[in-house]
Amino acid sequence: RLNRPSGSGAAYSQPISRGHKSLSYPAQSSLPKSVPFQQPTPLISFSYTPEHILQFDDSALRYYRASPPNAQLSYGYDKWIRRPEERSRIDSLLEAVDRVADPDGTGKEGRERKINLGDVGVIAWRGVVTRILIAPYEEREDFQMNVMLVNGTLYLEEHRTEAQLEEKNNVKPHHRKMMYYGYAFESYCTSDAPQANAPHSHRDPPGWGGDVNTNEQWCSVVRTKLDNMRFIIGGEVDCVQNQYKGTTDTFVELKTSMSIRGAADEVRFEKKLLKFYFQSFLLGVPTIVVGFRTPSGELKTTQSLQTIQLPRMVREKAANRGPGNANAWNPSLCLAWCHDLLTFLKKIIRESEGDPSVANNSKEVDNEQPTLTANEAVWRVTFVPYEGAQV
Ligand code: A3P
Ligand code: MG
Ligand code: MG
Repeated sequence: RLNRPSGSGAAYSQPISRGHKSLSYPAQSSLPKSVPFQQPTPLISFSYTPEHILQFDDSALRYYRASPPNAQLSYGYDKWIRRPEERSRIDSLLEAVDRVADPDGTGKEGRERKINLGDVGVIAWRGVVTRILIAPYEEREDFQMNVMLVNGTLYLEEHRTEAQLEEKNNVKPHHRKMMYYGYAFESYCTSDAPQANAPHSHRDPPGWGGDVNTNEQWCSVVRTKLDNMRFIIGGEVDCVQNQYKGTTDTFVELKTSMSIRGAADEVRFEKKLLKFYFQSFLLGVPTIVVGFRTPSGELKTTQSLQTIQLPRMVREKAANRGPGNANAWNPSLCLAWCHDLLTFLKKIIRESEGDPSVANNSKEVDNEQPTLTANEAVWRVTFVPYEGAQV
């Protein structure tokens, strides 16, 4: 669904459905065309300090090291400095883009990494692009995003409703603890220097990498390309192996999951891997280290997965379970869908914004704001959960 959000930009709250072909999720059984995705290259990185101040340096970068066996992921829960959930705006990503953008597209500023924004089709956080990609398989949560088209570039941003924010900030203590396990695993698996024999406080368990403060983040902004569409994508990278040399090959994503005890668990885990896969794939993260834990947060085993091998791994496992049980996901279907959707959005927004009937309409609704400013030209896209198998 696509519409103008109501609220401050009330001038454009009418749904848009004027004779445009609608776009539906592809059937999961369909055979998509193959859409190439270019290996992402980092453009710039930045950090959020413990106070969540944005800094263009690598101060928040963490280095991977193996976690100790049987680590207790509940350790330090009461010391967790938790960043409140808020609307994840695109602003800091835009600040980063600003630093690498060449304003006039001439490339003549003596800076090699400068890119011409005129060539960029899409700018977004990695989380938003992941949501778009996996939408054809998402059966529960809906997702909303804000879209702006400025000088040919689509700017995408997650939109959380008040209710969603409220829910995120008031998670049940049990769920909150599960979330903490993920961050505690990050602490056990990382240090603030490469191969550090971290002198750790005797109060802390072995391997503990420091108390959890979710204000801190290290982010990489990469450029990549989906078919003919250039993307700039920013996202958090949990840690790097050995050192960061400005390339993605040492990036590591850390994840926790419940230990797998039976076939049903295995199916659930493989489903989850779709999200793990695209989250890492989009930033070029080659390695995902999964910590399997008990319900009470005891780390049982860890497994290192190669991102690019995941689709085949899941496909083969699903095939081995037999046709009735097939649970495979097909990343090509997601990529083709993403490309189709963004092309479609660009087309109808461009048409509508150049369409005098829309401009006239908006004047009728709000005479106080006769001109369109960039901030008001926001569109809202709602992804509804996929409703079961289509034939
Ligand atoms: P897990 O990775 O163990 O699930 P990320 O994995 O993206 O680096 O995020 C680190 C942790 O943040 C996650 O640990 C999880 O606890 C929490 N987290 C991330 N996204 C979340 C979401 N959408 N809802 C709840 N918790 C989330
Ligand atoms: Mg992370
Ligand atoms: Mg992680």
